Amino acid sequence: MKALVLTGVKQFEIQDLPTPEIKPDEVLVNTAYAGVCGTDHDLYAGRPGSAAAVPPIVLGHENSGVVAAVGAAVTNVKPGDRVAVDPNIYCGQCDYCLTQRPELCDHLSAVGVTRDGGLAEQFTAPASVVYKLPDNVSLKDAAAIEPISCAAHGVDLLKLRPYQKALVIGDGFMGQLFAQIVQAYGVHQVDLAGIFDEKLKRNQELFGVKNVYNTTRESIPAESYDVIIEAVGLPSTQAQAVAAARKGAQVLMFGVGPQEAHFEMNTYDIYKKQLTIQGSFINPLTFKDAISLLESGKMNVAPLISHELGLEEVQDFLDGRIKGVSKAVVKVGA
Ligand SMILES: NC(=O)c1ccc[n+]([C@@H]2O[C@H](COP(=O)([O-])OP(=O)(O)OC[C@H]3O[C@@H](n4cnc5c(N)ncnc54)[C@H](O)[C@@H]3O)[C@@H](O)[C@H]2O)c1
Ligand SMILES: [Zn+2]
Ligand SMILES: [Zn+2]
Repeated sequence: MKALVLTGVKQFEIQDLPTPEIKPDEVLVNTAYAGVCGTDHDLYAGRPGSAAAVPPIVLGHENSGVVAAVGAAVTNVKPGDRVAVDPNIYCGQCDYCLTQRPELCDHLSAVGVTRDGGLAEQFTAPASVVYKLPDNVSLKDAAAIEPISCAAHGVDLLKLRPYQKALVIGDGFMGQLFAQIVQAYGVHQVDLAGIFDEKLKRNQELFGVKNVYNTTRESIPAESYDVIIEAVGLPSTQAQAVAAARKGAQVLMFGVGPQEAHFEMNTYDIYKKQLTIQGSFINPLTFKDAISLLESGKMNVAPLISHELGLEEVQDFLDGRIKGVSKAVVKVGA
């Protein structure tokens, strides 16, 4: 099978690999689409994502496909089923797994990070992370289920209520997913701050966003929001997120900053405004919710997927040679 193998820091090779073998509890998937995201940029550059990727390895953690074969102990899917695969595999035995916080697992492994992923014609995963798709969810849209599931975990960590006014900072793919998902979870208004007029306008026209702020020339109203989702990962936008918080606000710090970065905030405000500053890491058991959001039409990702790449183009994308990408998915198989 054809595979794009990360062979070293910023080094890819197209290789012909043998069909992966499956254990009794595993599924072999013919890859349809693999989304590529900021985590792949990090792994490609030798920085850790949810975990470190050690070359040689096949990346690709936002995968959809069709089941090719199943191990003897697998009962949830069968050959021919259209599926999406949650990359994250938890040990089930550490303190965190045993206290309903598997995302913090001490022995996290992940398809496309610590084991071969979807940037190959086939990959394997334990049946426990393979989810059958509803008929009305396309394999291309299904590549967005993993990112949606990360956003779903973020909103799970908040207490969302219909009275709330929410602000999303960041008009990248994740920020735009958040603009939709907070509405699906019931807040009464969502505004969006970003740096691209076209994307901001599209979110008003297509996705029910009320007010938009282009932060290259407009400021975000201070102390105005009950829920703020930071989806950029810069100290400056993290500070903007806190500045936008009104009394009792919850601030979700979703963006991933550089490992050494810090941002400053007034500590008295945390007390006086009773703020919640909430981190969010990956997507524990939120795949079902993500699939339902697409199946019900409460979330619409097709207009956000701007590029369909081939395996040969992934390096060009990660090196920044493909411009104007909103979200790229790699079409791996038919
Ligand atoms: N917590 C998690 O589990 C998790 C999961 C996925 C992604 N992330 C993180 O979420 C963040 C967003 O992800 P993404 O895929 O959308 O990445 P992205 O690179 O597309 O998002 C960044 C976007 O933010 C916008 N932006 C840049 N500077 C800005 C500014 N000053 N003000 C407002 N907007 C600005 C731009 O549109 C840019 O494209 C990244 O940091 C990513 O690593 C976290
Ligand atoms: Zn990703
Ligand atoms: Zn564990």
